[in-house]
Amino acid sequence: MGRLDRCYNIADLRDVARRRLPKGVFEYLDKGTEDQISLSGNRRRLDETKLLNRVLVDVSDVRLDANILGQSAAMPLVIAPTGIAGLTWHEGEFELAKAAAAAGVPFTLATGSNTPMEKVAQESGARAWFQLYMWREKELSYDLVRRAAGAGFEALVWTVDIGHGANREHNLRNGFATPYRFNARSAVDMLTHPEWLLTVMGRYMLGGGMPEHVNYPEQFRTSITQGGEKKGAPKTKAMRADKVSWEDVDRLRDIWPGKLIIKGIMRVDDAQRAVEHGADAIVVSNHGGRNMDSAPATIAVLPGIVAAVGDRTEVIVDSGVRRGSDIVKCLALGAKAVLTGRATLYGTAAGGQAGAEKALSILKNEMRRTMAYVGVQRPRDINNDIIWRGD
Ligand SMILES: Cc1cc2nc3c(=O)[nH]c(=O)nc-3n(C[C@H](O)[C@H](O)[C@H](O)COP(=O)(O)O)c2cc1C
Repeated sequence: MGRLDRCYNIADLRDVARRRLPKGVFEYLDKGTEDQISLSGNRRRLDETKLLNRVLVDVSDVRLDANILGQSAAMPLVIAPTGIAGLTWHEGEFELAKAAAAAGVPFTLATGSNTPMEKVAQESGARAWFQLYMWREKELSYDLVRRAAGAGFEALVWTVDIGHGANREHNLRNGFATPYRFNARSAVDMLTHPEWLLTVMGRYMLGGGMPEHVNYPEQFRTSITQGGEKKGAPKTKAMRADKVSWEDVDRLRDIWPGKLIIKGIMRVDDAQRAVEHGADAIVVSNHGGRNMDSAPATIAVLPGIVAAVGDRTEVIVDSGVRRGSDIVKCLALGAKAVLTGRATLYGTAAGGQAGAEKALSILKNEMRRTMAYVGVQRPRDINNDIIWRGD
């Protein structure tokens, strides 16, 4: 029996990932920020949301397929962009994309990934979305957007909740800040995880060196240990823009021919502006509790946002999904679909494509089971009457 066969839920995959990865990489993946309040709040709110089972109805034909941005998907789930996937498994983002293709769900490639975007879009077989961070010198980002359009990505996901960057103290302690600065502690950490060292780092080294940010603009295309700009490249003040506005959405709308999604919306007025500026979808997200530690749970703000804009744009939600029942809860609260970050990444870290497929099949089975309990046969028929409102 292989180690994936002994994984019955996402928490089991997380355990395998924790054992396989160096602590620095695992905590980078697993933790939130500062005091972990937003991270635990996402989970607490999902756990406290209770569903009512409906009995004596026909649940002999429960199906999960759903429509996401005008195309069918095998379930209402999209794999979220996670910049570190390539450090959990060799070309981890490509493994995730292939798993998404096999499971029939879209995959989002992060700007900070280590596999060329063209390879993911053209060789994985997945419906591919590209996530964008905006550089201060915006033309650099526009060039990436044009590159993503040329590569054939279906949707552009602009992540807007980055602000001044996150205060993730555990990464500093572990020597896993970006750019990665190895210290004695992180060196010991890696040496005591030889399987990871050989199968992930070893394969990158055999292929030519440290993994690179191959989807960054040319002058920032450095290895993960170098970061910043290439020597001799023209100086720009910051890699990430902290001076952006809604006009930038208009500019992206002009340049980008496909679907445009704004990720990181938590306020009704921002959701309304996103719609006014032509977003085809928004992702209600607090970045999985990884950025602002004072953020409320996403499912707490979701119903208000859906009430305001749900008839004009597709509202997707993320942050905290670990069970199929969580997906049902998100849909009952008005989301059209969910993104999964850690759930599918634990799978990748545990077993590459096979592990990510395992995570998706666990979520599918759990979702199907929950739908049968609450007496609904199709995701589109899930609504808030299955939510228990208290006595
Ligand atoms: C390790 C890791 C790296 C991430 N990197 C990115 C990124 O590069 N771009 C982005 O928009 N979101 C990034 N996210 C956030 C995810 O896209 C998503 O919003 C979040 O993981 C959802 O919460 P969940 O992990 O509880 O499912 C990252 C999340 C994790 C866990």
